[in-house]
Amino acid sequence: MSLLEDPLVLGLETSCDETSVAVLRGRFDLLGHVILSQDVHEVYGGVVPELAARAHLQRVDDVVDAALAQAGVGLHDVDALAVTTGPGLIGALLVGVSWAKAAAFALERPLVAVHHMEAHLFGPVLEDPDAEPPFVALLVSGGHSLLMHVPEWGRYELLGETRDDAAGEAFDKVAKLLGYPYPGGPAIERASRGADAGRFPLPRPMIRPGQKAGADDWFDFSFSGLKTAVATLVGTLEETDSLERERAHVAASFQEAAVDALVTKTMRAVDRTRCRRILLGGGVSANRRLRAEMAARLGPDGRVLFASPRLSLDNGAMVARAGLFRLERGERAGAEMSADAGLPFPGLTRRRH
Ligand code: KG4
Ligand code: ZN
Repeated sequence: MSLLEDPLVLGLETSCDETSVAVLRGRFDLLGHVILSQDVHEVYGGVVPELAARAHLQRVDDVVDAALAQAGVGLHDVDALAVTTGPGLIGALLVGVSWAKAAAFALERPLVAVHHMEAHLFGPVLEDPDAEPPFVALLVSGGHSLLMHVPEWGRYELLGETRDDAAGEAFDKVAKLLGYPYPGGPAIERASRGADAGRFPLPRPMIRPGQKAGADDWFDFSFSGLKTAVATLVGTLEETDSLERERAHVAASFQEAAVDALVTKTMRAVDRTRCRRILLGGGVSANRRLRAEMAARLGPDGRVLFASPRLSLDNGAMVARAGLFRLERGERAGAEMSADAGLPFPGLTRRRH
């Protein structure tokens, strides 16, 4: 089925703990967009997969209806559907995938599968037409930390990735250690404001004196050692009854170390590729300290591209936009389409250092 000029694409995202639906006209016209965050996980200090799937199931119809109502259209006006098929929590993904498959079948409309992390690349371009390749992309979320060069949409040259925890996961785990609520990233950013980020020197993972370009960890990240260093520090502060007094300073020192690691590796990618445009995507890219430090180290002759926080965190709009790109390339999902918790990144190649 060929696609109309400015098709109305419905994007559906249920890979983790946000149920989100967007109605996108063409490339930029976001007519309707609803993001429903599940607060049930706050009680448990992290996402409980079973509860996430159940909550998606209970809410998906209402979220679709709300997004369509906001857009002032009916389901029959939709020209094509895009849905996140992975990576993510399998039960959560299945809710979105089943819903989208059923709707596409009933409406007789094309359906396309979207990779969640590729969708994060498309967040900024929804608000800024200049956020097009080429750029160096830093994708940092709760499950992934990827550093890549993107010469054009669909061609992704992987330079580095995390060897253990994802950046967002580190924020979440450190927040838990410090007694802050889930999700940890925003809580740590809030606590860090006005605190002394230089008070506790923490390790910068995979950045060593004498490390040379070409070393196999030159572009990679590692956050578990940093988390362990914070755990040890918290233990020491508890013994001397000073954790309460120092909590915000620990949060700020951690944030500084994590941001420094992310920015240092990204600047290495800028040097390697000679591309002075950096795109930040994924939940951690909402962090203001990260954005500011990246812009400061890149300097005025470069550009740092990022979306507003609403489009940096998980949302259906980026899924609709990434889906539109794939639809324009002629991709269509067949009846065999399914959710895949470990879906490989489409078009990703490992660049030799
Ligand atoms: O992309 P996202 O919304 O969901 C996943 O795909 O995982 O990213 C969620 C992650 C969480 O780990 C959360 O703590 C982190 O992004 N995050 C932040 C901030 N806002 C969200 N990390 C640091 N600073 C923030 N302001
Ligand atoms: Zn995400």
